[in-house]
Amino acid sequence: MAGSSLMKSRFESFICDANESVAIQLVCSDNELDNEPHNHAIKEFNPEFSHQLFGDNESIFGYSDLRVKLYYSSAKLNCFLSIGFTDKVTKDETNGIEADDVVDTIRQKLSLKLCSSMDEFRSLLSKESQFIPYGKLMDSFSIDWKTDEKQTKRHFEIYSADILVPGFDAYHQRMQTFLWWLIDAASYIDADDERWQYFVVYEKRSPNGLSNGHLHSDAHNTYCFVGYATVYRYYAYPQRIRPRISQFLVLPPFQKCGLGTRLLHTIYDFYVTDTAVFDITVEDPSDNFTRVRDFVDSKNCQKLNAFSVDKLKLGWNEDMATEAQTRLKINKRQARRVYEILRFRCTDRSNADEYKAFRLGVKQRLNAPNQKQILDYQKLEKLKKFPEQELAFIRQTTIPALEVRLDLLDKQYKELEEEYQHIVERLAES
Ligand SMILES: CC(C)(COP(=O)(O)OP(=O)(O)OC[C@H]1O[C@@H](n2cnc3c(N)ncnc32)[C@H](O)[C@@H]1OP(=O)(O)O)[C@@H](O)C(=O)NCCC(=O)NCCS
Repeated sequence: MAGSSLMKSRFESFICDANESVAIQLVCSDNELDNEPHNHAIKEFNPEFSHQLFGDNESIFGYSDLRVKLYYSSAKLNCFLSIGFTDKVTKDETNGIEADDVVDTIRQKLSLKLCSSMDEFRSLLSKESQFIPYGKLMDSFSIDWKTDEKQTKRHFEIYSADILVPGFDAYHQRMQTFLWWLIDAASYIDADDERWQYFVVYEKRSPNGLSNGHLHSDAHNTYCFVGYATVYRYYAYPQRIRPRISQFLVLPPFQKCGLGTRLLHTIYDFYVTDTAVFDITVEDPSDNFTRVRDFVDSKNCQKLNAFSVDKLKLGWNEDMATEAQTRLKINKRQARRVYEILRFRCTDRSNADEYKAFRLGVKQRLNAPNQKQILDYQKLEKLKKFPEQELAFIRQTTIPALEVRLDLLDKQYKELEEEYQHIVERLAES
């Protein structure tokens, strides 16, 4: 191999995938820090994203076999960061380029005081059992937890708090550090703003580890942070509010067990009886969240009069929007989506006419923006103010050709049908 290729390949061997090199672990007690596998330890997890810390390539330069471990105490969320590697580049071999300062990058982004040593972290772990969740208990429930080996019952609690609860501000600063690793375009909120409401999920565990159906009196149990959501009370003219769900997170070791669904139910319960609330919206929902929301909203709406099977078959009407908004605080756009999900569920797809009527209804909605552009263009044409050349340009740039439009509609429809089918299946299982 020529000298420069050798250099290049040595150089490349010092580039690590940040999402693989970083691992995050919640620790309930200090014996989980020993090298022995611990039965009840919460599984460590890798970030989904790290581009906001390590750049678009999500890579860290300068180390071989890099292992960065971010420990959180499970209740109080005290933090310790450890870093290990088998080799690190020297400035001499890279013409002065230094290895990335991983610890500093993480420390700065998280804006968090980290424990200075593992001993300090361990000593703080002994105080974990003193932790009492902030705010008001909103929900308390058990889940049958299935793993490959066994099934256990685990206990969870959801609390609601705001920034006026003493101590919660500092706690929120620690909770929000998870966002960088699990949400694509994360950002910290302005927590000084009192219009934020927080909902926090914990697992409640017995002193020996898992909750496992045998909790002690409260003094002996410990809490483990599971996830949280933030909701902003937007003002709606003239005297209503429109709470908007902004951040919504369940940590990976607890995902796909129904906790996100439960958290969303809790948020709805919190606002649904408040007469000042007009409806609840969601900021920039991810696909995973959209599925949870579709499921919860469809499950709730199916009980409403306006969404009875007879009415669904007559097509979308404003009563659906009104009842979903007044009874469940669901906004109109989402109510329309729920209508389509529930109508799809009761559509006999072996009946060609019935199936076609459903498809047409969805495609008409999808096509509405195109229709508007065509009408706007026709208005321009009627004005007779523009020369044909200009009109042709407007037509070409704003209205796609019929064939293109039909193809796109078909594709959009198929994707939607798949999403609806998924929700219908989940509804059938629930
Ligand atoms: C979106 C998010 C909050 C969902 O939380 P969650 O706790 O996994 O949600 P649930 O468990 O209620 O539902 C998720 C899935 O688990 C499935 N599930 C629920 N209980 C289950 C069980 N006992 N066994 C197997 N699967 C189950 C649900 O059917 C659902 O499946 P689907 O995604 O295929 O539709 C979580 O994935 C997350 O935090 N993601 C990263 C951050 C993010 O995207 N946040 C949203 C920003 S708007």
